[in-house]
Amino acid sequence: MTSSATTSRPGSSRYDDVYGAWRRDPEAFWAAAAADIHWERRWDKVLDASNPPFYRWFPGARVNTCHNALDRHVDGGRADQAALIYDSPITGQKRTYTFRQLRDEVARLAGAIAARGVKAGDRVVIYMPMVPEAAMAMLACARLGAVHSVVFGGFAANELATRIDDAKPKLILSASCGIEPGRIVAYKPLLDGAIGLARHKPDACFVLQRPQHPCGLVKGRDVDWSEAVANAKPADCVTVAATDPLYILYTSGTTGAPKGIVRDNGGHLVALNWSMGNIYGVKPGEVYWAASDVGWVVGHSYIVYAPLIHGNTTILYEGKPVGTPDAGAFWRVIAEHRCAAMFTAPTAFRAIKRDDPKGALIKKYDLKHFRTLFLAGERCDPDTLLWAQQQLGVPVVDHWWQTETGWSIAANCVGLGMLPVKPGSPTKPVPGYDLQVLDAQGQAVEPGDIGAIVVKLPLPPGSFPTLWNADQRYRDSYMNDYPGYYKTGDAGYVDEDGYVFVMARTDDVINVAGHRLSTGAIEEVLASHPDVAECAVIGAADQLKGQVPLGFLVLKAGVDRPDHDIVAETVRLVRERIGPVAAFKVATVVKRLPKTRSGKILRGTMQKIADGEEYKTPATIDDPAILPEIAEALRSVGYARGQMA
Ligand code: COA
Ligand code: AMP
Repeated sequence: MTSSATTSRPGSSRYDDVYGAWRRDPEAFWAAAAADIHWERRWDKVLDASNPPFYRWFPGARVNTCHNALDRHVDGGRADQAALIYDSPITGQKRTYTFRQLRDEVARLAGAIAARGVKAGDRVVIYMPMVPEAAMAMLACARLGAVHSVVFGGFAANELATRIDDAKPKLILSASCGIEPGRIVAYKPLLDGAIGLARHKPDACFVLQRPQHPCGLVKGRDVDWSEAVANAKPADCVTVAATDPLYILYTSGTTGAPKGIVRDNGGHLVALNWSMGNIYGVKPGEVYWAASDVGWVVGHSYIVYAPLIHGNTTILYEGKPVGTPDAGAFWRVIAEHRCAAMFTAPTAFRAIKRDDPKGALIKKYDLKHFRTLFLAGERCDPDTLLWAQQQLGVPVVDHWWQTETGWSIAANCVGLGMLPVKPGSPTKPVPGYDLQVLDAQGQAVEPGDIGAIVVKLPLPPGSFPTLWNADQRYRDSYMNDYPGYYKTGDAGYVDEDGYVFVMARTDDVINVAGHRLSTGAIEEVLASHPDVAECAVIGAADQLKGQVPLGFLVLKAGVDRPDHDIVAETVRLVRERIGPVAAFKVATVVKRLPKTRSGKILRGTMQKIADGEEYKTPATIDDPAILPEIAEALRSVGYARGQMA
């Protein structure tokens, strides 16, 4: 496979030099980057590689992440600069916090949290909508050295309960409601339901009352957020080891049990700070906006931590790309707050393009401060990239990363001088990542050939040192298949020019509107329906969301209820158990599932049929006659327009 650069920008890039410098001496490279961070105590060594695959960055160093994100800037001349702008078209509110104001709010909240007995190393679960208090909650935990675990608001009680049981929080921070277009999402019943389901019970919950939908409080457990903060004494930063955990963020794996990605303090500070100047090309003091949610890794890294650590103003946006009020919402925010760079998922741009294909709304706004658009979270189709580039007249940078790594694996490093853009490619490995493409036997493939994308160990600072309380799962899921390498779970190729192309997942993870979901987790819910004997879920191509989950149900013998009733019940069940974010809307009843002779369900073939792609009948199939039945069932729900090869 080959491809050629279709767009390029003049000027020479320092990328090769900087990548080369990292390759020659990675420890010296990261030690130099670490000089921009305030350490209470310097590290004994940059990297502890004595216990692979468990590498530790900056062992011996002592540090506080909140100090580096707030206090350092207050003391260093940015006290009156805007740190966080809350822009909420969904409630009609806007609020700006300077670094001093944000530090003071966070210190008071940290005082209230500490008054509940939360100490360094204790866990705090945060289940909140996109309000400034969500960012404050994360920073307040960091201030105390407590480990936060944010759970995305679109997950239902059951998912929250699973995370509570794994993280075992002393305290939960939540709010009375979230607001989605056209509906209030009452959080309190979900929170109460989750605590009811969980075996572990928190000592207390702080509940932020939002005027749109206040809620009742459970006596003896729930505390009104404002009252707790009003009576609190501001807390100072607690210094922790650089290798201590800052947070746990659960992400989808191949089963219903999510993986608790651990992030440390020291390596994370160094990597994120480096990324702001070198990847995103912004200077301290400029406005940077990641239009995501604090519940996802993008929100952790680029709404909260990286911009603040680097002395940028960050925007916390409670709204959508379209409908709040229209497809010009992003341009309004960029113009009004003079954003230099923005980061979102391609799906947001597909939604904007659908509503405003000619970009008429863009022309209403003055975007002169806007320099670069960054896209990630899913494969960026060239059409979307080129459309955005054409409409905005600025470089559009696709970059590839994962919850596990916490920052980019491959990117066009704008701060180093852009390389020519090849649509469909997130460009080249970022310094810190030695990326290779291997075949099933672990041998490097030729340029242009598809294989498993892996990263030679050690992973750089900022990426996950382990899974929460699950060292063995860390080895099994990521490190054992290709000894000495981290398995990204993505397949793709590197072309002759060294450009990376990420094409598909190699596991059961699907990507729905930039949200990572496990088909295995959805299957577990479908299988729990009393009439379902067997099931399968695949990710079918979707013009807006990239992929959507599609269910196949085989009913138990003797079930004679109408199929559509059972399908509707399974759709409801997934929404109740996993949450609306699963976007599970379509399922079809089939007599049987296509399998290999050894009993493995042929999900890949089903996906090809659903997407209308050519497919071959696998040689190992148990009964080839099933495939036309599957195609017919898919056609009945609007899929499968392809032909058998
Ligand atoms: N709390 C509660 N429910 C939520 C939620 C939250 N924080 N976020 C999403 N949901 C709900 C939605 O309301 C929707 O519910 P519905 O089935 O009742 O309509 C469901 O979850 C699915 O949401 P989503 O997949 O986001 O679809 P959508 O149709 O609401 O919006 C986009 C589509 C493209 C506009 C939207 O996905 C988007 O803005 N994406 C931006 C990119 C992004 O944030 N990516 C994250 C990683 S960078
Ligand atoms: P998450 O952990 O939710 O950030 O999802 C990570 C996964 O999203 C990756 O493993 C990829 O499958 C996909 N992904 C993220 N960014 C990109 C990108 N720029 N190109 C292709 N796939 C991407």
